[in-house]
Amino acid sequence: MPLLTVLEGLHSAEAYNPAFLVGFLERVREVARHPESYRDSLRGRLIATVFEEPSTRTRLSFEAAAQRLGAGLLSVADPKTSSRVKGESLSDSARVIGSYADLLVWRHPCDGASRLVSRCAGIPVINAGDGRLGHPTQTLVDLATLAESWDGFAGRTVGLMGDLAHGRTARSLAWGLTMLGARVLLLPAPGLDWESGFEERVRVRSGYRLGRVEHPLLRAWTGVESARLLEPRGLLQGRLFDDGASRLERLDALYLTRLQRERGAAAEGKGYVGLRPEQLRDPLLRDCLFLHPLPRREEIPPEIDDDPRARYFEQARLGPVVRMTLFLAMLQAASWELPPLTALPAGNPDHPLGVCPNANCITRAEGLPSPWRLAGGEQRIFLCAYCDARLPVEYVGCRSSRKFHPIHSPAVLQIRPENLRPFRERDAARAEGYIWGGG
Ligand code: CP
Repeated sequence: MPLLTVLEGLHSAEAYNPAFLVGFLERVREVARHPESYRDSLRGRLIATVFEEPSTRTRLSFEAAAQRLGAGLLSVADPKTSSRVKGESLSDSARVIGSYADLLVWRHPCDGASRLVSRCAGIPVINAGDGRLGHPTQTLVDLATLAESWDGFAGRTVGLMGDLAHGRTARSLAWGLTMLGARVLLLPAPGLDWESGFEERVRVRSGYRLGRVEHPLLRAWTGVESARLLEPRGLLQGRLFDDGASRLERLDALYLTRLQRERGAAAEGKGYVGLRPEQLRDPLLRDCLFLHPLPRREEIPPEIDDDPRARYFEQARLGPVVRMTLFLAMLQAASWELPPLTALPAGNPDHPLGVCPNANCITRAEGLPSPWRLAGGEQRIFLCAYCDARLPVEYVGCRSSRKFHPIHSPAVLQIRPENLRPFRERDAARAEGYIWGGG
């Protein structure tokens, strides 16, 4: 299977699918076993890394990976040293740097920045973290860490804990875990849950259902004794309580995340949640691996580091080998066959819906209209094609019949995707000559 279509760019973990992930993790094992075999694989190629937010692991492990493969490196480690401080747009910077290198790795504080860089750069782009939207290569590192200890992911239960509202690593990992059949236990810190629309998209894409589980330890982590569990349809675990929640019997991995203060997050009440040394003896955690993308703060005290279940420094150690594998997959397409990533629906720029409602969207920072895309499945959900924010669409027209309907009308489901014309307001539809088609 041709690979270049796979990895023309890696912007979102939503593009992962089971075949790609299984194939990729096999390749990681191969590179880890024989790294010396790849020493000169990318000699003569040039990789640029641009980090507009601080980073230790991601930038240095990408750069270590490039150097170990023999590639040359261009690096902007501090945005204050680039002409971005003179007001150069992200689009222009991406276009220029894209003309110097063969592949771009970019970190940016705005949601959707990677997709904009990709549109302008003219070369493959890897998202090294964009706002709170995603960190897809961290997900590959996380999955590779778990794959070292597990034969498979199906039937495993992984808790995602902490600042789910602002963190990008847990969001990306949710896409990856559900593609591999793992159950995902949601353990948001009080007041720091992710939005229901995101969770719904993950469930629709993976065919998962939402359940609830109970365990006394959950109260210490989230403030309440029960938690949401995303699980494949058809699975029923544990004993059902009267309210429909089942007893959580085992946790296979716990993924902790830090409070994202730089994105305005603040802990509610007595402080931020975390793993405490006295909790390590709880039978729920007997075989539980502890992961964290790092950097950590108070959520994992250093006393836990020597526990054999702690894997967060192993995660960091695997960063270069995972990123070597990714570079090989993107720049050695002919010799590295992998199943393709799933393409996200392209954004529709012809009928922009105005300003994106997400204040941190890259379209707001760059003064661009927000092209829309459809969320997966049969539902008519319109998202910003850059940052995935749900757009305030109230009416939908059919470009063929020239009729328009309220968004929730069954008639909207009958309109072919290529004929959809979303509107924020009734008057906007009328102004374009659409006629009322009923609710
Ligand atoms: N995990 C991670 O993204 O770490 P850095 O911010 O140090 O790159």
